[in-house]
Amino acid sequence: MDEAKRILVVDDVESNRKLLVMSLTRLGYDVDQADDGMEAIEHAHATPPELIILDLLMPRLDGWETARRLKADAATRNIPILVVSTHSEVKNRVSAFEAGADDFLSKPVDQVELKTRVKSLLKVKSYNDHMLQYQKRLEEEVARRTEQLERAYEKIRMQALDTIFRLSQAAEYKDEDTGAHIIRIGYYSAAIARQMGLADEEIDAILHASPMHDIGKIGIPDHVLLKPGKLTPEEWEVMKRHTVIGAQILAGSDSEVIGKAEEIALSHHERIDGSGYPKGLKGEAIPLAGRIVALADVFDALLSRRPYKQPFSLEQSLGIIREMGDQEKLDPDVTQAFFAIENEITAIRRAHPEGDASPA
Ligand SMILES: [Fe+2]
Repeated sequence: MDEAKRILVVDDVESNRKLLVMSLTRLGYDVDQADDGMEAIEHAHATPPELIILDLLMPRLDGWETARRLKADAATRNIPILVVSTHSEVKNRVSAFEAGADDFLSKPVDQVELKTRVKSLLKVKSYNDHMLQYQKRLEEEVARRTEQLERAYEKIRMQALDTIFRLSQAAEYKDEDTGAHIIRIGYYSAAIARQMGLADEEIDAILHASPMHDIGKIGIPDHVLLKPGKLTPEEWEVMKRHTVIGAQILAGSDSEVIGKAEEIALSHHERIDGSGYPKGLKGEAIPLAGRIVALADVFDALLSRRPYKQPFSLEQSLGIIREMGDQEKLDPDVTQAFFAIENEITAIRRAHPEGDASPA
């Protein structure tokens, strides 16, 4: 039953308080007292009651303002307020309700009426508490499920990216010593994209898509792909097709990363001055991701050993990149971003040397 329910009686006149306390105690409630609004608010925070019985005319803080403050505060908003006043004219009742009172009783208080009103207000309070708790539990459950879903989504995403990475490595397997090249391309490209101020999602797409830039090499015959010497013009034409083949392999996907990879595969050998392939696009007609990966790819190739060349030193490689930027082979903005983060670029190179194929 209601025995343990706590009720706070607020009245500045001691005899009124005593009367109410006696009646309520007799009805089996735990009764606390406050002799003005300020004390009532403090009390309601320290020991929240199930119901507040509030006088209107009091010193310091009157009943109207007390009700307003209690209802404006999330911590006390749900405690019902029963106003008890000798001033029971309509305008006082209305203003009490407007201030946040839930019910109104006239003094002198009729015992039966008090009992009924208190009981009904406590019932509503108990129902509201139940609903609030239910809502809280529901929200917690939704948050828990959402977190589970996010974790599952992230796991699937990582697995998809891992698969992509391994397929990219398969495509490079024949002509690269290790997978370190494609890992570095990803990191270089993402670092440049970040320096250029691209959005996080775009940087992320470039990071994961750029390792697929040469996936079309899978369609190039070995006698061309692995030829140690210089390619004949015919062989070179065949070699150039790795861009188109790569784009064909990646075409038509719903995945943002694969879509970005298609764009990069097709455009990473285009040059700003139009001297690149396969389309001979110029300047901004070349997608930005393609322009970024173009630089990353050239830089990494310069520093790497190839069947037909020794690695260049870091200094030589940086010099060549600068020259290619000046000659508008590489995008000047991309080149500028690259040199602005030279230390980060060389750190990536050191962190992923030849022979290291771990993407982490
Ligand atoms: Fe390529």
